Amino acid sequence: MVFASSLSSPSISGDGRGASPIRPPFSPFNLKPDSELRSPVDKDMDPVFHSGRVAVVTGAASGIGRAACLELASQGLRVVLADVNENLLADAAKEVGAIVGENNILVVPTDVSKLEDVQRLKDRVLEMWGEVSVLMNNAAIGPVGKSWEGLDNWHKIFSINVMGVVNVQQTFVPAMIHQENPSVIINTGSKQGITNPPGNAAYNASKAAVKSLTESLAHELRQTPNAKLTAHLFIPGWTYTSLGTSPASTAPSPPADKKPAGAWTAHETVVYMFDKVRAGAFYILCPDGEVRREVDALRVLWAAGDVAEGRPALSRWDPDWKNVFEEWVREGLAGM
Ligand SMILES: NC(=O)c1ccc[n+]([C@@H]2O[C@H](COP(=O)([O-])OP(=O)(O)OC[C@H]3O[C@@H](n4cnc5c(N)ncnc54)[C@H](O)[C@@H]3O)[C@@H](O)[C@H]2O)c1
Repeated sequence: MVFASSLSSPSISGDGRGASPIRPPFSPFNLKPDSELRSPVDKDMDPVFHSGRVAVVTGAASGIGRAACLELASQGLRVVLADVNENLLADAAKEVGAIVGENNILVVPTDVSKLEDVQRLKDRVLEMWGEVSVLMNNAAIGPVGKSWEGLDNWHKIFSINVMGVVNVQQTFVPAMIHQENPSVIINTGSKQGITNPPGNAAYNASKAAVKSLTESLAHELRQTPNAKLTAHLFIPGWTYTSLGTSPASTAPSPPADKKPAGAWTAHETVVYMFDKVRAGAFYILCPDGEVRREVDALRVLWAAGDVAEGRPALSRWDPDWKNVFEEWVREGLAGM
């Protein structure tokens, strides 16, 4: 079948380095199981995720951001919580402060779509602690809309999900790049920004932009002499949070006892992600209770194959192609 050939095509390489005579081309058939990808780094020796260092998290008031703050606090980092929702932010701050101590948290109400808010956030952090070790660019909204409707929605999503990320990068990266100690910037993308499932065009497009701008950032940092800052693209799986359940994420994270079996908790997702950042991964493609890594890899390859093979856009969901895709995934999994 023609599609199988794209799997071993030298033009599709897992690490972006392209085909090489000494490096075999990427193939999902030789993917390592996720259990073998755990970080070999000793947590106590990690210079970035280290007690006393400073983490800044946007979208800190609920869901994944809140779970990240709790996890970072439990590792002894000082935590700066930034979010537009002041009520939820106060609740989150109480929980985080109870772990790491009130003196080791800073709460800065911030609308990431407003550059002046983000600049104030950076000034507050640097005045207080002089450095940032972990910057998590995570705030986003996900209201649903069609391609040709809801122009306001498009503007709002892009001002937060894309320009919010850009504002944070523009403001913090120049300060972090020349810090004495190593640091990381983690931008939260989405599988929807890679495979583009139908149903939420604006959100998907915003997350595709986050993937693109984070790849550029990572490359530019790698080319910058003596930069001790690395960039990482965090791609959560299905995580049980309030995203998509309220128009502007004004609801607190939903109760853990209602979690669907297929979703991961926000805590599970952030623990997985930090482990991968510690191990130096750029693409952090998180599984969940329904989708394992191998299936995600095949979905990503199929989406790229639409372009390479000239299939219709989003062929995975096209009635003429759906069965072909499903069979291709079955064959791919059977061959692993
Ligand atoms: N939950 C999932 O399954 C899932 C999957 C893929 C990606 N993500 C991504 O994970 C990140 C976190 O989402 P979540 O699921 O925890 O949702 P969430 O709604 O629980 O959290 C998002 C947070 O961002 C804040 N926020 C919204 N607009 C803001 C603004 N202008 N300035 C500052 N803060 C703002 C909200 O108040 C909220 O606290 C997002 O980038 C989202 O796109 C989530």
